[in-house]
Amino acid sequence: MGRVALVTGGSRGIGAAISKALKAAGYSVAANYGGNDEAAQKFKAETGIPVYKWDVSSFEACSEGIKQVETDLGPVEVLVNNAGITRDAMLHRMKPEQWTAVINTNLGSLFNMCRPLIEGMRARKFGRIINISSINGQKGQMGQTNYSAAKAGDIGFTKALAQESAKAGITVNAICPGYINTEMVQAVPKDVLEKAILPLIPTGRLGEPEEIARVVVFLASDDAGFITGSTIAANGGQYMA
Ligand code: CAA
Repeated sequence: MGRVALVTGGSRGIGAAISKALKAAGYSVAANYGGNDEAAQKFKAETGIPVYKWDVSSFEACSEGIKQVETDLGPVEVLVNNAGITRDAMLHRMKPEQWTAVINTNLGSLFNMCRPLIEGMRARKFGRIINISSINGQKGQMGQTNYSAAKAGDIGFTKALAQESAKAGITVNAICPGYINTEMVQAVPKDVLEKAILPLIPTGRLGEPEEIARVVVFLASDDAGFITGSTIAANGGQYMA
């Protein structure tokens, strides 16, 4: 069996493509999911990848969930922090719950997942941590003060942990997808997507989840051992940081 990889939000959208690509590359994959049982069971039946339900915004839930995964599959050597939500609203209409939900799920989850796993990775002198940030954490996005703040935070977290972990053989990198063809982007009002977003993408199309998954597989590989603390954009040229 290959290395164990754990993907949060791994049963839908970009996460599902990441789980499948890692399995195809020989990893023993566990896919965490937050709430959609039906989608998770369908994903499991189609892929044979085991699914684990817990809320990544809870430290206790992450600790318990990781314990279960490690009991079932062995020590996690590759962690992909992919789980994320949107609660878009202009700040002047944003409710505190919309702010808190996005910060806790999209940023708090990095602490909640990495903290229980980092000691084992340090002891084994190997680890790959890949954080899925966003173009909107790099450039900001109207209607997304919560999401942009969390995703920018993911980049800072990545750089700090990369410095702490390099000598222990652990790489920590962030990927910033642009607008990818998933339910999250399909939920953007159609006129906004067509008039305000698509025209800004030089490739003239949305990205596909598999185009992010291939970056993850590379970063997880031994070949990527010298890449750490980096922020890799995959956005069709929409933003060049
Ligand atoms: N870029 C540029 N202009 C935008 C915009 C965007 N992303 N979103 C909205 N606008 C414009 C609208 O076209 C509209 O312009 P006009 O007044 O000229 O018609 C104006 O802003 C106000 O928009 P709404 O009438 O929709 O105002 P609202 O208060 O009802 O909603 C909103 C505002 C919450 C921002 C809503 O428009 C929205 O959800 N926009 C999409 C925001 C977005 O891009 N979210 C990304 C989700 S995908 C994702 O997050 C994945 C990822 O990592 C990339």
